[in-house]
Amino acid sequence: MITEKEVYTLNQFAALLSVSKETLRRWDNSGKLKAKRNKINGYRYYTEEHLEVCQQLEMFIPSIKENTNYTKPLKTYKSIELFTGAGGLALGFEQAGIKHILLNEIDKWACETLRQNRPDWKILQDDIRDLDFSSYKDSIDVLTGGFPCQAFSYAGKTGMARRISWDEPSLTLTCAPAQKQTERCHPDETRPFKVREYARIQTFPDEWIFSGSISQQYKQIGNAVPVNFAKEIGYSVVDFLNRYYEDKESQKLTNRLKVSYKEAVNQ
Ligand SMILES: C[S@@+](CC[C@H](N)C(=O)[O-])C[C@H]1O[C@@H](n2cnc3c(N)ncnc32)[C@H](O)[C@@H]1O
Repeated sequence: MITEKEVYTLNQFAALLSVSKETLRRWDNSGKLKAKRNKINGYRYYTEEHLEVCQQLEMFIPSIKENTNYTKPLKTYKSIELFTGAGGLALGFEQAGIKHILLNEIDKWACETLRQNRPDWKILQDDIRDLDFSSYKDSIDVLTGGFPCQAFSYAGKTGMARRISWDEPSLTLTCAPAQKQTERCHPDETRPFKVREYARIQTFPDEWIFSGSISQQYKQIGNAVPVNFAKEIGYSVVDFLNRYYEDKESQKLTNRLKVSYKEAVNQ
């Protein structure tokens, strides 16, 4: 008979931790979080002690979600964003507080996506090799861009469909989820991801609309930098720029003080 207070079933404990039952079973088998067993039916169960261990180890997904590099920009930082694609990197940097004064992308459908979602962005639909950025000299704080990287995205292909797990980081998405050799499969159902599921994995907000045919949309999403990842990088860039400008200001102040001191001494 179970005597411990507050016993949670596998189901309940999975819900508490926001992980799947499969993850709990795996943690049990690997010893990461040993479950207790009901002596009569052998079912796993968890107690308050388990909950405390999880709290100490910060095994709750919601608490992990709260971790962020959030840094407030001290002024408006301006960027030129190259190879914008569907805007994963651009959107993440915007969320971190960086203002794009110009964006470049060659692909018609990706540009259409950008225009639909951000009518106020200045988007140049052109080959980067034909552009002249000299008029922007000294007027931006950061140059961003995720250039084409197919060779990396396809590295590691196995020739088999790979089922993505609910609770683990996803494999890198490719430009075509149902293509032989690069297939990424839904965690429970035997099918490729739908466009919106693909977009959610890449942390695009649901309001972000993708233009073009279904395969064009998969391509844009598969090509993207995950928005949340880009936002975190954006915060680090903001932090760097904040410190850069603070140092510059304090340097100016020091120089001014040095000049006034010299003037005072020479009088
Ligand atoms: C890896 S994707 C960029 C994804 C984007 N950073 C994002 O997070 O959504 C590379 C992009 O570069 C664009 N591109 C490739 N060659 C280009 C060129 N010569 N001029 C401008 N854009 C180009 C592609 O159309 C593609 O959208």
